[in-house]
Amino acid sequence: MRLKIAVLAGDGIGPEVTREATNILRAVAELGGHDFIFTEGLIGGIAITETGSPLPTATLDTALDSDAVLMGAVGDNKFNALTPDKRPEAGLLQIRQALGGFANLRPSVAYAALSESSPLRPEVTKDVDILFVRELLGGLYFGAPRWWNRETGESINTMRYTKSEVTRVARIAFDLASKRRRKVTSVDKANVLEVSQLWRATVTEVAKDYPDVTLEHQLVDSMAMHIMNTPRNFDVVLTENLFGDILSDEAGVITGSLGMLPSATIGGAVNLYEPVHGSAPDIAGTGKANPLGAILTAAMILRHSANLETDAKAVEEAVHKVLNEGYRTADIARGGPSITTQEMGKLVHQALAESIDQRQ
Ligand code: NAD
Ligand code: IPM
Ligand code: MN
Repeated sequence: MRLKIAVLAGDGIGPEVTREATNILRAVAELGGHDFIFTEGLIGGIAITETGSPLPTATLDTALDSDAVLMGAVGDNKFNALTPDKRPEAGLLQIRQALGGFANLRPSVAYAALSESSPLRPEVTKDVDILFVRELLGGLYFGAPRWWNRETGESINTMRYTKSEVTRVARIAFDLASKRRRKVTSVDKANVLEVSQLWRATVTEVAKDYPDVTLEHQLVDSMAMHIMNTPRNFDVVLTENLFGDILSDEAGVITGSLGMLPSATIGGAVNLYEPVHGSAPDIAGTGKANPLGAILTAAMILRHSANLETDAKAVEEAVHKVLNEGYRTADIARGGPSITTQEMGKLVHQALAESIDQRQ
């Protein structure tokens, strides 16, 4: 198996967690006799500092020429005064658009070993397994017009969706639900927004092609509460760009930390893989970053871009094993003893190597 992977580590803890994720991919390649070719590229704040652009052409070319793109995180407080189009985050939005993936899959699962890491009671989080399908190329993030007129003190962003944009992401959600527990919860604000009314009508229409899948609609405000109260009620949660951004971070509470959450963006020319968390400037450089979100993101590369399901599972099981043995980074340690980013990466690597050895 040959796979070209563009590695865009970015800012803050991005490089710290990405290093551990690529180590895991290297191990899978070595132990399984695969040929994974890694090419590094600049994105975000570091790219602005070194080239003046948050997404240099060289990075975009590398990404478009790859089979998969692994992102770390972008964002640096020193660019906070810049307008959105000039900030590190613009590089991420540009690459998402250029790669074309519109369905961002964000699994949020409860690990038995981490039942005490979540502030939610163990009986609430037990066996939770939610897959968020976040539309990634529409809504407020990309709608025009968008501006801020400092003289008049007026600004505008536009939430826009077309029926075909909703249809294509809804199909992905229903396809995935058919292979899971056959339930889609579509989240919108149809009591207030026309865009959400289009969203709801379109999702309802798509659902007709999936008679085996139950569809329910929820309004986003009460959904934010339901996710915390009764997370086990949800299987696939389908929603637009901004709602998905917010709800998927919230769902980090179920797993125990935002640092545990992976994501994969599919449907475009090249799949894009990124942990859900950001550059975490508050802990960057301290060795406190949890690399498991990035490592689980690497597992999603194996699953969705390399067709190596057994290896994807092996990585996920290695993560389970290390957590079951009680190892914790600070974010999931709840004040107890903790290990560093690198130590965590190394332990997962060891557990993975052992399991692949046993397989052979
Ligand atoms: P954040 O996700 O960076 O951090 C939120 C909180 O979670 C912080 O307390 C942080 O320490 C903690 N956290 C996040 N990831 C962690 C990990 N792996 N291990 C342990 N703790 C972790 O969100 P923020 O602070 O709101 O944003 C910081 C910057 O990151 C901003 O510039 C933002 O735009 C950017 N951002 C980038 C991405 C991305 O590149 N995909 C995603 C979200 C935010
Ligand atoms: C995420 C981030 C990004 C988003 C930002 C940094 C552009 O929060 O990946 O969740 O809002 O999509
Ligand atoms: Mn986010």
